[in-house]
Amino acid sequence: MQNFSSVFRSIILAAVVCGLTFTPRVHAAAYTLPEDNNSLLGAVKQVQLVYEDTFAIIARRTGVGFSGLQRANPGIDEWLPGAGVSLALPTSMLLPATPRQGVVINLAELRMYFFPESGQQVFVYPIGIGSEGRETPVMQTSVVGKIENPTWYPPQSVRDRHAAEGDILPRVVPPGPDNPLGPFAIQLARSGYFIHGTNAPIGVGQRVSSGCIRMYNNHVASLVATLPNRTSVRVIDQPYKAGWQGDDLYLEAHPPLEGALNHSQAVAAVISATKARDADVDWGRVVEVARTGSGLPVRITR
Ligand SMILES: *[C@@H]1O[C@H](CO)[C@@H](O)[C@H](O)[C@H]1NC(C)=O
Ligand SMILES: *[C@@H]1O[C@H](CO)[C@@H](O)[C@H](O)[C@H]1NC(C)=O
Ligand SMILES: *[C@@H]1O[C@H](CO)[C@@H](O)[C@H](O)[C@H]1NC(C)=O
Repeated sequence: MQNFSSVFRSIILAAVVCGLTFTPRVHAAAYTLPEDNNSLLGAVKQVQLVYEDTFAIIARRTGVGFSGLQRANPGIDEWLPGAGVSLALPTSMLLPATPRQGVVINLAELRMYFFPESGQQVFVYPIGIGSEGRETPVMQTSVVGKIENPTWYPPQSVRDRHAAEGDILPRVVPPGPDNPLGPFAIQLARSGYFIHGTNAPIGVGQRVSSGCIRMYNNHVASLVATLPNRTSVRVIDQPYKAGWQGDDLYLEAHPPLEGALNHSQAVAAVISATKARDADVDWGRVVEVARTGSGLPVRITR
């Protein structure tokens, strides 16, 4: 027991030290908030790979999600993309069809949007969400607490699942490199759900959790620093987003969590975006965008 608790103490100490040397790269996720009727953020960037790069390394380095990178670069090997290959970064997106307030989590997109009250900016973060059978629910909730260096108490269901795979989890995991919550946990009013960091960054941008929302550690650190208590948190599921930029209408399609890509739902999103304003839509392109599901916004007006 003596040994264990001194090991735990040194892990906590290590976490504190890491916390002090930690420098969040805040700006990677910041976009200028477009005017009222416009929805397009950012621009797609390209990165040139060197021989040891994988999608996991590029996703982490550029602050995008793993599946976002896959969707934007179909047909390229994730583990051996090859030197000299150019990857499209999913650094452009349409705002989801919601009020531009608080935190908006779009499950199909594996992204979170944070609209600070005062700002002219929106922060966009890739997230990991619940896996099949342990889905993160669509919900309207709010922030009720922020925990620095959280201790993890794995629920019995999680311990049982790990045990079935021969992995015996302790009842308590103190802060440190083995803690899957990372440096911060944001507690939501909906009991049992948290937004937190991670000790496995490859899970950011994937459906891997038990229902909680995971972020890169530098992203959760910068979010916690500016997120007011009681901020509203809307969890939505919008695989198809249509939105304007000036005189052009755009469409962005993500593979839905359930079922296949479906152009009739994409058409519904386009119709909703053209309710108040006529558009000369290229419907052939709508079907193509819906079929491809690249996760990148594509212009669909002629
Ligand atoms: C945050 O808000 C919740 C819900 O209103 C409240 O219970 C809690 O005490 C607040 N925490 C802080 C640090 O103000
Ligand atoms: C596509 O979506 C529509 C409307 O939600 C639904 O009626 C239809 O069955 C779906 N088609 C497929 C192939 O999933
Ligand atoms: C936004 O769209 C609405 C509905 O079409 C329109 O009434 C309003 O004038 C537009 N605002 C701007 C700034 O273009």
